[in-house]
Amino acid sequence: MNLSKKILSWYDNNKRTLPWRISQNFRKKQYYRLLSEFMLQQTQVKTVIPYFNNFVKKIPSLKALSKSKEKKVLKLWEGLGYYSRAKNLHKTSRILINKHKGIIPENFAELKALPGIGDYTANVLLALIYNQPRVAIDGNVKRVLTRIVNPNSQDQDPINLFKTKRNGDLAEALMEFGSMICKPKEPKCNECKIKEACEYYNSEPKIKLKRKIKIQSKSYDIFCYLKRNKKQIALTKNNDLSFLKKFNLPKIKEASKKNKNWKFLCNYKNSISNKKLNINLYYKFSTRIPVQYNWYSLKKNNEFIPSFTKKIFKKVSYLYL
Ligand code: ADE
Repeated sequence: MNLSKKILSWYDNNKRTLPWRISQNFRKKQYYRLLSEFMLQQTQVKTVIPYFNNFVKKIPSLKALSKSKEKKVLKLWEGLGYYSRAKNLHKTSRILINKHKGIIPENFAELKALPGIGDYTANVLLALIYNQPRVAIDGNVKRVLTRIVNPNSQDQDPINLFKTKRNGDLAEALMEFGSMICKPKEPKCNECKIKEACEYYNSEPKIKLKRKIKIQSKSYDIFCYLKRNKKQIALTKNNDLSFLKKFNLPKIKEASKKNKNWKFLCNYKNSISNKKLNINLYYKFSTRIPVQYNWYSLKKNNEFIPSFTKKIFKKVSYLYL
């Protein structure tokens, strides 16, 4: 049996039932695959599931998505992070409806030209939707391939190891195999059906994979204008830090020691996109706020509030107890 047959037979017996895998008519299938692949960029399967289910309940088709307001799409994405994905998905849906008759292109270059679709997403969509023989190499799959084929031996093309007619299933089987068996730290070699063919399993000492580079955290000061007798906070979309552009946030700056007129509330750690932030939170009660700021309720908003800002809401809410 060749490697793909073994991996696929493992997959058939062990795959998770994920909502975007349930078979559908063609239009639904391509919408579900597009949406789930956007959500799964940078986010784990278990986090995505409830967001995916809620999203398709509220916006059930590509056409409906193209007709939705961006604000609604962002609200449904609230908490998932990396919001440019939501904006790009929304733009892509409009282009697909207006220029491609609502059908995802079968051509790699055309697909990649759409907002938010890079090499990986284009490959995975073509494999999943059109069963094209494409290998979508994400972090999991890269690890699997590196282990099976000794990274020091250049003479094996990993793609040729996996020939099959079930290209879409193979793309997902490799991802699934990477997250369930061929795990980063302690791979379950005992349960692995292809260990005999694996360079990693057969090598002694075990080939070491490169460690992930630790991202250093950077310090920032956040300043909250609050109303004294109403649970309200002033937010602006005009912070000039590149990774927080256009989000509703209090004032944020790189940390300094000159914060005289502000009261210190607490220090905490948070991350946004791939950055780790060490945050000093300051506040002052005020009735007047600078231009470009607006008051928001700390309790309930129809506006899109990123989770980064919701965390701040929670912390300053203690001041009103
Ligand atoms: N990660 C990205 N796409 C995925 C998929 N279709 N199944 C499981 N994990 C994934």
